[in-house]
Amino acid sequence: MRSQVVIVGGGPSGLLLGQLLHLAGIDTVILERKTRDYVLSRIRAGILETGLVDLMRNAGVSERMDKESFIHEGTCISYENELFAINFQKLIGQNVVVYGQTEVTRDLYDARDAVGAKTIFEAEDVRICDADTDRPYVLFAKDGAEQRIDCDFIAGCDGFHGVSRKTIPDTVRREYEKVFPFGWLGILSETPPVHEELIYANSPRGFALCSMRNQNLSRYYVQCPLTDKVEDWSDEAFWDELKRRLPEEVADKLVTGPSIEKSIAPLRSFVSEPMRWGRLFLCGDAAHIVPPTGAKGLNTAASDVRYLHEALTQYYRDKDIAGIDQYSETALARVWKAERFSWATTNLLHRFPDQTDFDLKMQRAEIESLHHNEIAQKWFAQNYVGLPY
Ligand code: APR
Ligand code: PHB
Repeated sequence: MRSQVVIVGGGPSGLLLGQLLHLAGIDTVILERKTRDYVLSRIRAGILETGLVDLMRNAGVSERMDKESFIHEGTCISYENELFAINFQKLIGQNVVVYGQTEVTRDLYDARDAVGAKTIFEAEDVRICDADTDRPYVLFAKDGAEQRIDCDFIAGCDGFHGVSRKTIPDTVRREYEKVFPFGWLGILSETPPVHEELIYANSPRGFALCSMRNQNLSRYYVQCPLTDKVEDWSDEAFWDELKRRLPEEVADKLVTGPSIEKSIAPLRSFVSEPMRWGRLFLCGDAAHIVPPTGAKGLNTAASDVRYLHEALTQYYRDKDIAGIDQYSETALARVWKAERFSWATTNLLHRFPDQTDFDLKMQRAEIESLHHNEIAQKWFAQNYVGLPY
């Protein structure tokens, strides 16, 4: 088998890259370890930066998103009984789109089916070979049979636990990591959202987030100890804790109901440099992870995809390797800014086991500054809606 670009990983990064390369006339094969249903079962965030929305439109995959998504002109932050809005539209003339990132993945799979591009599910034991030569290839097993794909390039879109990043030699790779001492317990409920925009809550009991998918599907989170297990939390216990972390006026309006999904996710900041080794390029979670405060995961994967799509198109169209040579540096420049915003908002809104009274005073002073200082709000707004690509 031969393909111009082998994409390892059929999550949103791999799918979006595959769709954009297809439109540029570049042949791809996606190797996905799991089944399509498994990939689509993963719960993901629900906020899209305009950069990702534009990419989806350029990829010709925005019809359902344009019908079903809705615009949020801002977001809200609460602390104790205070609640204030940061209005992106008024501050910087931009906004964000609310649309489940799982739906983005679904739309991308449907688009890939429609163009008949090749996706191999349940591809096992993927190995990336000779990526540091001009003749790379990928080995994998399918239904017990060993297979080989010769290619020009490999895009490692296989997430944090994939093989691509580890293909880059330890002597070349530099990793930066911060693991946060808590997790997020999240639930999905078929209830109306408690507020018309998201609420990021800093409370003495810990962080909480009120989000949504649509007017009848809400997504809520509470910060929890890493030692907690999902089975430790009944729906009733979750709702009680969430209410205790929100301003009274909000808690009183909360419509509770049975959870249709409940899970705990750890929080980590992680970046692996470089994002390119020979003819292997890393995109998305394969190269970087952010804590979910600010929903920068897919939105940062999107800028990687945009840069790599442009670089590969430039190569095949003009035999110009400038984009390829600059990919890692260009992508990392934006990645680190997203890491900074996600890290800063996580520190601003969560309670840490080792926080001193002074630390708490600093946290409150920063939240009050965000509440009353337009310059602070503009910095937050620019980062939340997404820095330019
Ligand atoms: N071989 C083939 N496929 C693999 C392998 C492997 N060895 N390892 C992992 N995969 C697949 C996974 O099954 C998964 O479907 O790669 C895919 C990686 O997808 P994601 O983990 O979703 O990563 P990415 O596509 O970069 O998505 C980035 O989307 O919703 C957001 O917050 C989410 O930050 C994340 C972002
Ligand atoms: C979500 O809707 O799941 C969500 C929204 C915003 C975040 C994180 C998660 O910052």
